[in-house]
Amino acid sequence: MLTTACIFDLDGVIVDTARYHFLAWKRLTERLGISFTEEDNERLKGVSRMASLEIILELGNMRPDESTKLKYATLKSKWYVDYISKMTPDEILPGCLRFIKELRGANIRVAIGSASKNTPMILKRVGLEELFDAVADGNIVSKAKPDPEVFVKAAEMVGVKPGKCVVFEDAVAGVQAALNAGMMCIGVGSPKILTEAHYVVSGLKEMNLEKLITIEKNVRL
Ligand code: BG6
Ligand code: MG
Repeated sequence: MLTTACIFDLDGVIVDTARYHFLAWKRLTERLGISFTEEDNERLKGVSRMASLEIILELGNMRPDESTKLKYATLKSKWYVDYISKMTPDEILPGCLRFIKELRGANIRVAIGSASKNTPMILKRVGLEELFDAVADGNIVSKAKPDPEVFVKAAEMVGVKPGKCVVFEDAVAGVQAALNAGMMCIGVGSPKILTEAHYVVSGLKEMNLEKLITIEKNVRL
């Protein structure tokens, strides 16, 4: 088997925080009088906080100055943190713990590669702060997905070459980031949305080591 590291996006792969992001952005857009749908929200998945705000302002055709933008992003984040500060281990998505433990048992490194600056808080709230060998998140990278920076960083932290890493991602921008990093990518979600992923599962509950080996054989050979 070639894979020696699995890198997991956090939001939407390990925990279902996408709805909290949506609720917080929705609150901001309502305040600003911008129409914002769940479909628009799809474009924000995997994208950094400030890049998400830019997309929202574009939807509303608004061009505020930098300090106003910062105010909006801070407000959204405050509402978001209110939601996630109440998270519990029950919100870990099905199959996640079992699969990651199986990988660890097979000596495969496991890391987080997330755009979120709230990664440490979420991992702590759901009791996963000890599970990963490395955490690359929005606090240590500056370039938003689809830039590969966060995955390249995660691979470096666990000492594995990109060609031996597999990324699990639920966002279009995240799949592109994995491909830009030269990594195999398993999409988590709908194959209709994650068209560029090498393989798509509906959730980590569908994954196990044997399946990973089979997917890898088809993709890498
Ligand atoms: C990503 C989410 O994981 O993190 C995005 O998919 C979010 O929706 C981004 O904008 C940044 O999150 P945070 O917690 O730093 O505002
Ligand atoms: Mg995600």
